[in-house]
Amino acid sequence: MTDTTAPGPLDVPRLLSQLTLEEKAALLDGADRWHTEPIERLGVPAVMMADGPHGLRKQSPEAALNDLHESYPATCFPPAVSLASTWDPALVHRVGAALGDECRAAGVSILLGPGVNMKRSPLCGRNFEYYSEDPFLAGELGSAFVGGVQSRGIGTSLKHFAANNQETQRRHVSAEIDERTLREIYLPAFERVVTQADPWTLMCSYNRINGVYSAENPWLLTRVLRDEWGFRGLVMSDWDAVNVREHGVAAGLDLEMPSSHGVGTARIVQAVRDGALSEEAVDLCARRVLELANRSLPALAPGQTFDADAHHALAREAATRSAVLLKNAGDLLPLSASGGTVAVIGELARTPRYQGAGSSQVVPTRLDDALTALQGALAGSRAVTFAPGYVVEAEAPDPALVAEAVQHARAADVVVLFLGLPPSYESEGYDRPHMHLPGPQVALLEAVAEANADVVVVLANGSAVAMDPWHHRARALLEGWLLGQAGGGAVADLLLGSANPSGRLAETLPLAYAHTPTIGTFPGEHGQVRYGEGLLIGYRWYDAHRIDVAYPFGHGLSYTTFGYSDLQTEARDAGREVSVQVSLTVTNTGQRAGREVVQVYVTDPECSVFRPEAELKGFAAVDLEPGQSVRVTIALDERAFSYWHVGLARWVIEGGTFGIRVCSSSRDTRLATDLELAGEDPLQPLSPELPTAMWLDHPIAGPRIRELLEGDPEYDDYRMDRLRENPFDRVARMRGFPIPEAELPALAAQANASTDAGA
Ligand code: BGC
Repeated sequence: MTDTTAPGPLDVPRLLSQLTLEEKAALLDGADRWHTEPIERLGVPAVMMADGPHGLRKQSPEAALNDLHESYPATCFPPAVSLASTWDPALVHRVGAALGDECRAAGVSILLGPGVNMKRSPLCGRNFEYYSEDPFLAGELGSAFVGGVQSRGIGTSLKHFAANNQETQRRHVSAEIDERTLREIYLPAFERVVTQADPWTLMCSYNRINGVYSAENPWLLTRVLRDEWGFRGLVMSDWDAVNVREHGVAAGLDLEMPSSHGVGTARIVQAVRDGALSEEAVDLCARRVLELANRSLPALAPGQTFDADAHHALAREAATRSAVLLKNAGDLLPLSASGGTVAVIGELARTPRYQGAGSSQVVPTRLDDALTALQGALAGSRAVTFAPGYVVEAEAPDPALVAEAVQHARAADVVVLFLGLPPSYESEGYDRPHMHLPGPQVALLEAVAEANADVVVVLANGSAVAMDPWHHRARALLEGWLLGQAGGGAVADLLLGSANPSGRLAETLPLAYAHTPTIGTFPGEHGQVRYGEGLLIGYRWYDAHRIDVAYPFGHGLSYTTFGYSDLQTEARDAGREVSVQVSLTVTNTGQRAGREVVQVYVTDPECSVFRPEAELKGFAAVDLEPGQSVRVTIALDERAFSYWHVGLARWVIEGGTFGIRVCSSSRDTRLATDLELAGEDPLQPLSPELPTAMWLDHPIAGPRIRELLEGDPEYDDYRMDRLRENPFDRVARMRGFPIPEAELPALAAQANASTDAGA
């Protein structure tokens, strides 16, 4: 439909020249909680934004500011924790597009998400809003989400940039992270989304990184984000994340949200008048607000609607793909359509937990529950009984409810027991104090399993729960995460086999909290959280420490089986430019149609720096009929082989042998091969204070130094060997050393110029 009502584009350069300093400063402040400031005299419209992102949380103008339960109904798709388990960018893109349509219908121009922060600890209260413990997976899915929403002419806000990995003290904690860890773990998902999907906006985090608030960090918001990654959108603050507004403007924080009620505007104007802030910096930010308005205008035609039924169906499809079958002893699942009684136990079967709490909480257009869905699907063929078994928020068992549940279990052929975290256990704003399921639920499982060993457990949780104390009691285990408004039907489809599980874990499920990477360093103390585990988060940690886990990253069962064969790699290897095609054949070797997620992990066993044992660098999903085979090709780019070289301050592929593992999970390698890449022999630029060893081992400087030392009895090879660890300038100061300290800079310049390290 041609849109004839949308206003025409703004002439940004002309507007900038017409706006007063006060008006430009006002543009850099929200008008209220959800709008940018309009400038009516020049026809600059307000841009509306709203939370989500797994549904639209548009509040009515009358809603109390912090009433998270009040918003217009919208489709509640599965939150990020669940969508991530689909490992399916195409599906995530479709969900994003549907969300874009709901925004258009509501006149909302920016959907505030997705969140691509890493799951550093399972205790982070907001993990349900984040995709993964792996930056590559989070980046791919985040890009798909952004691409989907923006394909409808609606913007996104990639958040929370960066290192917002906990809720405890989130507004001022300083995340103390070394640069290599930032570059390889905490920034790449943002980088991937920025470079692949061009999000219209990005939201900075509340916290500080190495002492500097994200809202006023020029390294983060300008050097890395814009100069290195080429971000061309607008940066907004998280809600009330601004510390010193004028510092934010100088650092590249375009928009303060929500409205500071004039405080930020006045500070900006004053700072320009005092000469503490340049007007060019204000212009730059104002230009980005105007450009955002321009990008927003075309989609804002009145009278647009969306198809709530179609979106509910898509939410069900996404939920079906999201659940992960962790265990299925003796093929207890799928349940057959006929047979004896199915005892459904657990309050969460009829009162589903389908999303997390906080700013992302949406009011669904409708809500399915698994109990009704199972009863409907089995009507007339199998009896379904129900016992609640526990009160969701209770911390002590209810003996009468347990007794009733046990009775049901005893009388049934099979038990489907719904367990999970109560809503109060996980939310934006605080972290979990522990990883356990509520005690009464575990006690119920024990009692029920005594009465009937054929127990299927269906979990509802927004982040990993400790498995050790109880999971042996479940013969089958379906990790349902939080499945959105259509999760009930999806669970029934999966339990009954009308859908075949295909979800894969996007985070490791450890046996116990004591095994997790951040013991002792989460959530920090005295306002600081030290990322002492460095690169080793998630599976990288469990692999490095050879720790058994309950269910590894990437794991997920199916009702069919898959065979892998004929691995081939084809490399285009031109130094820093590398691409590798990994191809293999996947065959459905079972009896049912199913979907396999092929995962490619890269290892770098011969590197001069420490590298995690194996890292996910590619994946692809294939749908296969029984007996069908398909050739799958997964492309790996330079980044798949690179590490961040701290000395050179850039990515480096160190030449040598790399391993390619084709896996069904991070701990289930199906095919493997090696690959030689020329890469480079990274040379750090020499400077006088570096260790003598680096000078002696340098291909240009080393021979030159030996030449200058030739015949000197005091500084022969033996003596120089003893001095390898000493800074070279201090060696040059030693009595009688033949190379004067003053000559070192020239020697260094000569050596650096003849290698690309000097670049
Ligand atoms: C959250 C953001 C959210 C914003 C607006 C903040 O507290 O951290 O994720 O988009 O509020 O509700």
